[in-house]
Amino acid sequence: MPKAEPQDEIDLFIEGLPKVELHLHIEGSLEPELMFELAQRNKLEIPFKSVEEVRAAYDFSNLQDFLDIYYQGMNVLQKEQDFYDLTYAYLSQVSKQNVMHTEIFFDPQGHTERGVPFETVLNGITRALEDGRTKLYVTSSLIMCFLRHLSEEDAMKTLEQALPYKDKILGVGLDSSEMGHPPSKFARVFEKAREEGFRIMAHAGEEGPPEYVWEALDQLQVDRIDHGNRSLEDEKLVARLVKDGTPLTVCPLSNLKLCVVKDLHDHPLKKMLDLGLKATINSDDPAYFGGYMNENYKAVAHALNLDKDALLTLARNGIEAGFLDPVGKEALLGQLDGYAKAA
Ligand code: HPA
Ligand code: ZN
Repeated sequence: MPKAEPQDEIDLFIEGLPKVELHLHIEGSLEPELMFELAQRNKLEIPFKSVEEVRAAYDFSNLQDFLDIYYQGMNVLQKEQDFYDLTYAYLSQVSKQNVMHTEIFFDPQGHTERGVPFETVLNGITRALEDGRTKLYVTSSLIMCFLRHLSEEDAMKTLEQALPYKDKILGVGLDSSEMGHPPSKFARVFEKAREEGFRIMAHAGEEGPPEYVWEALDQLQVDRIDHGNRSLEDEKLVARLVKDGTPLTVCPLSNLKLCVVKDLHDHPLKKMLDLGLKATINSDDPAYFGGYMNENYKAVAHALNLDKDALLTLARNGIEAGFLDPVGKEALLGQLDGYAKAA
């Protein structure tokens, strides 16, 4: 047998690595095949003739370009079963990639705005998460995001809708169009969310300036920053993030597709690790950006020449940054250590 090329060896190492995903929008895991199936089931017209035509439309020059198509795509999600099928398809996919635990975002306002009840969305997703635990052995939790292009009042109403379901929703986040919608716009909503015991995170520094990351830290008091790429422009901010050990949920293929980086060779992930930032790898919207967890790990590992130690650090950061109970966290860390020793 010829010896495996080093690249293949890294790919195999990534495939076997026990991973945790912390930045995944469930609506962004809607594959074109399921989009067509749900359109047919719900008797809806969609503006595409084929799966190929849908994929060809996924050519974005910035975040807003993507969001326009992402909100259009989610129109096919109407019934509880649609949300179940969407979520179970994602879990099936990642369970084949050795993702042991996943923390899933959903955008309730993207559905309630079009007349789909909050409970329809929540029940479909949570039923699939439960089946994911028992049938696929993937543990999970759910995080509700506020759409930052909508008003503070709308976000507050959404938070109130979630209060009876605190046993099902672990945290709240902030997503959608970043520029012009700083975290400070939602300071009161997040204050109430904190008082109610939710975990807190926000997208910041994807397109927005370092000031938005400062606001997420100081005004929203986040447990994690989603993306955070532009933090590197501000030395004091980097020092603060390192000192506090604030995790960054980085999404390499998303950054490439949304032109946050021109080329993966320019991706700041390695620099983040070198600076001592607690960076993790995630897929964001895998159906739109060309890959799930393994594809993200592989693309960035090859582009930045990451070795096994760097990949183990990234996987360990993911476990440590997760909102797992201490027993679950220790078990996963032990599994990762076992994998490292055998490698
Ligand atoms: N950024 C902001 N909002 C989003 C994203 C993202 O990457 N994906 C889905 N909603
Ligand atoms: Zn995101």
